[in-house]
Amino acid sequence: LDNGLLRQPPMGWLTWQRFRCVTNCQEDPDTCISENLIRTQAQLLVQGGYLAAGYEYIIIDDCWLSTARAPNGSLQPDSKRFPSGIRALADYVHSLGLKLGIYEDYGTETCGGYPGSLGHLEQDAKTFADWTVDYLKLDGCYADIKDFDTGYPAMEHALNATGFPIAFSCSWPAYQEFSKMKPNYTAIAQTCNLWRNWDDIDDSWESVYTILQWFGDNQDRLSPFHGPGHWNDPDMIVVGNYGLSPGQSRAQMALWSIMAAPLILSVDLRTISSWARDIILNKNLIAINQDPLGAMGRRILQLNDHVEIWSKPLLDDRVAFVALYPEPYGTPIHLSVNLTDLGLIRYQDYNFFESFYGSFLGKYHYTDKYNFTINPSGDVHAFYVESATPRKRFHKNLQKI
Ligand code: GLA
Ligand code: GLA
Repeated sequence: LDNGLLRQPPMGWLTWQRFRCVTNCQEDPDTCISENLIRTQAQLLVQGGYLAAGYEYIIIDDCWLSTARAPNGSLQPDSKRFPSGIRALADYVHSLGLKLGIYEDYGTETCGGYPGSLGHLEQDAKTFADWTVDYLKLDGCYADIKDFDTGYPAMEHALNATGFPIAFSCSWPAYQEFSKMKPNYTAIAQTCNLWRNWDDIDDSWESVYTILQWFGDNQDRLSPFHGPGHWNDPDMIVVGNYGLSPGQSRAQMALWSIMAAPLILSVDLRTISSWARDIILNKNLIAINQDPLGAMGRRILQLNDHVEIWSKPLLDDRVAFVALYPEPYGTPIHLSVNLTDLGLIRYQDYNFFESFYGSFLGKYHYTDKYNFTINPSGDVHAFYVESATPRKRFHKNLQKI
């Protein structure tokens, strides 16, 4: 969507994966969907260095609404859990330097059963603008999927008409892909800043890996629509919760960076471990994700033992790679790949750098093989390369040690 927003993949934090639809604040005072939760996590986004790293949106997913609209038909939050109202919450979030996102649904009800926007698109768009909400995730439960091709553009029109800049996240193609319709990605990219294409992510390696494979299998039809202002969305980063090992966490962060996917965390920032935080805050991976070209990385090779290599072109002819070893076969695997098979044929010599640490891995001629090792069970070897001849200045965001 050409509204000037999200020229780089959005970065932020969202309630859904970690906090779901917990609404009983008696039982779960610290984790129920409430203004307290949002305020607390917003403070930690700032104090923990996440905002400084680029994570700027804090997004309330489903289950924030009152079960009924106000007498004049406008949306209202649950008054027990959001006693100060959304405008006050937005003011607070903005005072910290963050932006506020919110969830609604195109249909009659949200997926969690709260009032949907159908029949109220313009009114709801105005409400969000009055509240100074910066980002809307519009889901597609309880709706006729065939209506999406006109319904989502109608909501975009209504948002645009408010004059308040609101990034627009659509679930339009996800529902159409599930029901084996062919989404009109040209129209979707014109209407939405980002869009969910596929399954909800869960806190497990199986879920992360299955989603990754779906994007690899469909990359030819998705990548042409991916770029500044319009992004495919494989769903949240689940690093820092219960399900992923450190290696699998490195893998999700590295692969989501290679895909130039939205980096939307869903984790309790009060209890996140320091190793998970370090992965999420890794400067080089974020620079790869946020590279101004906005290219969606591709799965370019599938080697023996199911090792797969993904690559993403970066500004100034640099290229980022991630090799993934998903198998649980105990011991690290050694691999050897021709530079030509990595597509490195443009220059005579390349300098290789490890992506997480920026350390120099060696200089290789384009006829050479590159040898590397990956740990098993869903870990990655992540590296990036640049021409060694002629020597160019380094990418300003990629740091070397
Ligand atoms: C759908 C969406 C999820 C989440 C839930 C909320 O499943 O895909 O991301 O928003 O609804 O109910
Ligand atoms: C069998 C055993 C394993 C291991 C391998 C070695 O599979 O069950 O515990 O000893 O052989 O080849």
